[in-house]
Amino acid sequence: MAMELEEFLSTLEKLADQAEQTFAAAADADHFEAARVQYVGARSGQMKTLQKQLGALPKEAKPVGGKKLNEAKSRIQAAMETAGDRLKPSTAGKQSGIVLDPTLPGTRRHLGRTHPITQTIEHLKEIMGRLGFAVVEGPEVEDTWHNFVALNIPEDHPARDPLDNFYLSVAGQSAVDVSAHEAQLLRSQTSTVQIRIMENKAPPVRIISLGRVYRPDPPDRTHFPVFHQMEGLWIDTDVNMAQLKSVLTLFATSYLGEDVSIRFRPSFFPFTEPSVEADFLWNGEWVEFGGAGMVDPHVLTAVGYDPETVSGFAFGLGVERLCMGRHGVGDIRDLWRNDLRFLHQF
Ligand code: PHE
Repeated sequence: MAMELEEFLSTLEKLADQAEQTFAAAADADHFEAARVQYVGARSGQMKTLQKQLGALPKEAKPVGGKKLNEAKSRIQAAMETAGDRLKPSTAGKQSGIVLDPTLPGTRRHLGRTHPITQTIEHLKEIMGRLGFAVVEGPEVEDTWHNFVALNIPEDHPARDPLDNFYLSVAGQSAVDVSAHEAQLLRSQTSTVQIRIMENKAPPVRIISLGRVYRPDPPDRTHFPVFHQMEGLWIDTDVNMAQLKSVLTLFATSYLGEDVSIRFRPSFFPFTEPSVEADFLWNGEWVEFGGAGMVDPHVLTAVGYDPETVSGFAFGLGVERLCMGRHGVGDIRDLWRNDLRFLHQF
């Protein structure tokens, strides 16, 4: 046997012995890692060096050298695995002897999901988007200009009563004082957003706004002090009541997925003239979903539009009503209880 090969094999033997001892003696993960780098490190581990030496051996010595190198590698690998198992942080399962059995039946876990109101809002946005309405947003804390004045609701109007609104108290002032002057309140309707959009954009306008509104109603099956509205507004040079009816009919048909009838009843809102209540025929019953009408010229003037050149319609629908009607929910309070048994059904 050539000298070179003999030397190579004995180095190999010594290295494997040494590595076995080092791994066996490794007391913690740091020692283990140091040994790993020293012996089998990919860049400068000692096995790597020997591998290179193998390449330099005479041709006829290579088969034996290669075989022995592989044997040494296996020994070191085995020593490393034993040490690795010994040092691995023991898991609870191991201690109690529990072994994962993938054939056992699983336990179903309920993943989180969006709230039915959120689902409804997404659905409404999608339908109105197809009808060409862009989604906009407005603040929930409003001033009296946007919630009342610009909407043609004058200072002495009963809609501004502190008993019917959530005014934000101002130090040193009673709610009554506050309601009469420039004050802030939680918006009582999404019509505020109409004003904000028109103040900042020249016509045409074709938007919907969905969000929370607040009214101090005692909770019962159909009332809750916070609920959601979808406000729609379309302003252009020639928008009329027939288009209002078409849009609401298309909306109702899309949302209910069937041929629904829609009916307008005369009504009154300070910010629309004429005004209507919109009812949908739902399961053979007329249900009121909100108010609508042609935007009052006073409102157009308040935002700097010219009522002689533009006109438009607006509507405000109750999102909870739509959601409850569609899913057969009988009590609005269920939408706020956050009982998982209820929410899991959506
Ligand atoms: N803002 C009205 C309400 O809250 C609904 C409405 C919106 C009516 C737009 C007419 C036009 O009852």
